[in-house]
Amino acid sequence: MLCTIVLAASLLVAPALADLETVISSGRDRTYWVHEPDDFEDGQTYPAIIAFHGSSGIGFNIDGFAMEADVRLSLPVVPTAYSSDRYFIYPDGVNGYWAGPTYANVSVAEDLQFVRDLIDDIKSKYSIDSNRIYATGLSNGAGFVGTIACSEVGGQFAALAPVAGSFYTDVDGTGCTPARSPLPILEIHGGSDQTVFYEGGEGEGGPLPAIPTWLGYWQQRNGCTSNSTVDSDSGNVHHTSWICGGQNGTLKHWKVDANGHDWPSKTINFDMLAAGMGPQPIEANDIVTEFFDQFSLSG
Ligand SMILES: *[C@@H]1O[C@H](CO)[C@@H](O)[C@H](O)[C@H]1NC(C)=O
Ligand SMILES: *[C@@H]1O[C@H](CO)[C@@H](O)[C@H](O)[C@H]1NC(C)=O
Ligand SMILES: *[C@@H]1O[C@H](CO)[C@@H](O)[C@H](O)[C@H]1NC(C)=O
Repeated sequence: MLCTIVLAASLLVAPALADLETVISSGRDRTYWVHEPDDFEDGQTYPAIIAFHGSSGIGFNIDGFAMEADVRLSLPVVPTAYSSDRYFIYPDGVNGYWAGPTYANVSVAEDLQFVRDLIDDIKSKYSIDSNRIYATGLSNGAGFVGTIACSEVGGQFAALAPVAGSFYTDVDGTGCTPARSPLPILEIHGGSDQTVFYEGGEGEGGPLPAIPTWLGYWQQRNGCTSNSTVDSDSGNVHHTSWICGGQNGTLKHWKVDANGHDWPSKTINFDMLAAGMGPQPIEANDIVTEFFDQFSLSG
């Protein structure tokens, strides 16, 4: 339903749609949407933020496009505060899902291979700054960002930021081999998330770690030595920043106690509507892009 509305809206503005690209990966046609920098200039390279959509079950290769319309980091036609000088890449999962949960249709190995092939493809077709490629995602897509962080291909990303992540492949802290340490990671989660519970438990696609437990894994992996938390919004918002490898903020977490399962914004988006949430005290788009801007593979 949601996606049907988004698709109908997209047809009205068809001339300004993002590019739909295809790359063959593991013998399968894989698709992704590209929003080029609004102020693109020839001869320049730009950072790229790859954003992995939540589970949809709609398929038809429009899930990436729906992610753009929902999250509003970039938008068709209208420039956003973030889209002037960055590429936004919105890949489509197979049948609307990313690997990890039992409901996904492909193996973790196949989806990780797709990420490698996707990065090679965008580098060959667009003017991407290889030192500034970032990954974000929502829910199932955020869980997959966690999977990427635990794999060798995660090393190609300067920083990663899962939002409301379902970390099905990182339940007990084993089997995770990050490409480097510290690997900059930020997670945002609603304390009242009724789909991917903050305290973990049985999710729709298998067992899930509690978010503090998962952050504890990364505290160890990143070699963090201390952390501090700042509370705001009358104790509703908690922002924790860890010092890892001598650098403050290579692991970060935002918890909004009263928020549910969504991508939090000060103005309601589609997934906040679906979660029955009103405006939130934090703007995930600001938090995620400001986090990414601090990191580059060139140091
Ligand atoms: C793909 O996932 C859908 C939704 O869970 C399921 O109905 C279908 O059987 C799956 N197909 C395969 C080949 O696993
Ligand atoms: C922060 O550091 C303290 C030790 O100073 C530790 O007990 C705690 O688990 C760390 N993580 C969080 C989320 O507070
Ligand atoms: C680390 O950064 C956070 C904000 O992101 C700040 O609140 C904290 O005081 C900083 N810690 C140190 C030791 O500078």
